[in-house]
Amino acid sequence: MKTIPEEFKIVQPIEQKEYLIHGELRKWTGNRTEVYSSISSTENYAPTLLGSIPDMGETEALEALDSAMKAYGRGQGVWPTMHVKDRIECMENFVEQMTTKRDEIVKLLMWEIGKSLPDSQKEFDRTVDYIYDTIEEYKDLDRNSAKFQKNDGVYAHIKRGPLGVVLCLGPYNYPLNETFALLIPAIIMGNTTIFKPAKHGVLLITPLLEAFKNSFPKGVVNILFGRGRAVAAPIMKTGKVDVLALIGNSKSANALQDQHPKSNRLRLVLGLEAKNPAIILPDADLDLTINECITGTLSFNGQRCTALKVLYVHEDIKEEFLKRFSQQVDALTFGNPWDDGVKLTPLPEPGKPAYIQELIDDAVQKGAKILNKKGGQHFDNYIWPAVLYPVTKEMRVYQEEQFGPVIPILSFADIEKPLDDMAESNYGQQVSLFGKDVYTLSPLIDTLVNLVCRVNLNSSCQRGPDVYPFTGRKDSAQATLSVHDALRSFSIRTFVAFKDNELNNEAIQQLLEAKLSNFVSTDYIL
Ligand code: G3H
Repeated sequence: MKTIPEEFKIVQPIEQKEYLIHGELRKWTGNRTEVYSSISSTENYAPTLLGSIPDMGETEALEALDSAMKAYGRGQGVWPTMHVKDRIECMENFVEQMTTKRDEIVKLLMWEIGKSLPDSQKEFDRTVDYIYDTIEEYKDLDRNSAKFQKNDGVYAHIKRGPLGVVLCLGPYNYPLNETFALLIPAIIMGNTTIFKPAKHGVLLITPLLEAFKNSFPKGVVNILFGRGRAVAAPIMKTGKVDVLALIGNSKSANALQDQHPKSNRLRLVLGLEAKNPAIILPDADLDLTINECITGTLSFNGQRCTALKVLYVHEDIKEEFLKRFSQQVDALTFGNPWDDGVKLTPLPEPGKPAYIQELIDDAVQKGAKILNKKGGQHFDNYIWPAVLYPVTKEMRVYQEEQFGPVIPILSFADIEKPLDDMAESNYGQQVSLFGKDVYTLSPLIDTLVNLVCRVNLNSSCQRGPDVYPFTGRKDSAQATLSVHDALRSFSIRTFVAFKDNELNNEAIQQLLEAKLSNFVSTDYIL
């Protein structure tokens, strides 16, 4: 085992004893859950104790709901009625405090979820950029609605208003970025929120509790710790949540939305699982394609909803592709997140290597071969990515979202095969298409855009840049996220209308001049 650099050593486990409710950091004295990293700190392998978190239940969950509801105050709360520029100021205050916590959070990202140092830094920086971009976008949204329009003798001042109480649940693979990509737009639009961090990547929220408390009026952000089943389910059952914002899998999303007694009142903002394919045509540039497929299948060990989870390679180039791709997989470096040049890192879920092994065994038993020498090799907290070929639809690795290091490959002679499979699939997020001939590519692009929501040409699939729409068809998503779209997903169009007559015109004139309303305002926010 290489030594752990001094600055990344765990000196003292973090005993996270506080939670945020009613604008107070309350002390938790009840049951606790220990948090372990799958990374060892000792020569002989043993998971590292990182600290512990409160194990909360229904009582605290309902208290957090009460806190969020009071802050919303049936639309009368300080936050939902606040002027946009004041809400922006609170958010600026938050992000300034957040930037001071970069080193602590990056270190915890590495230990808690095994993300490499450069990727952990990128996750933090990308999140800070996302917040600043959201602020700019909100200013723009407000500027564009700082006006009146008149139709058929009726004036209208149309803006976007909050929806109410948002329950926000993020995933372990981007415990900061994806969670904040939900939480930040929800907050800034005037909603009040309850947020429960993911199972892995939970201690890294600790350094931000103070900043949340200091930056927003009481009850706007409530932070709970515990299992989703124990805290999220009781909140949903009350029917008092207006938005369920979740990035995770459709099973948990369905289970939670089913708990809500009035589904018509619940808005869903969901980023769910996917099985993004790569389609590799006979004229694809193999160097570029292999590099993109390595990144697509294996960055962060394939633990990304946007990862390439199945590859379709044309019969004519199959042999060369399989040989070179397998060699490149075996040439990757495995190590701890802070090791130089590391590409493959420990898996945070202790049961993941065994699950991946099950997928490999099932595929091999049904006729697939492991093409790479290291494929399926076990480490204490890892399993080397197996390149599996030929994969068939009967295999679990074809059907299930592996969300980990294993690469199923199919070959095709007729392009209808991958197209049919995609049409039949339960998922519809993105595809990668590799090839050069525009006469072949064009009709394919025209079809693929109707099967998924992003066609990546000679590029791996990805969410970013975050200004682009991130969504999916079928079981892959509900609503659209991006800096621009998220502000719309977490708000509703609402407006003031009045007939064109002296009484109304004078009243509005007066109201604008005296700046009496926070909603009716034509101020240009700089
Ligand atoms: O887990 C899914 C993430 O949205 C993927 O984002 O493509 O930037 O890694 P990414």
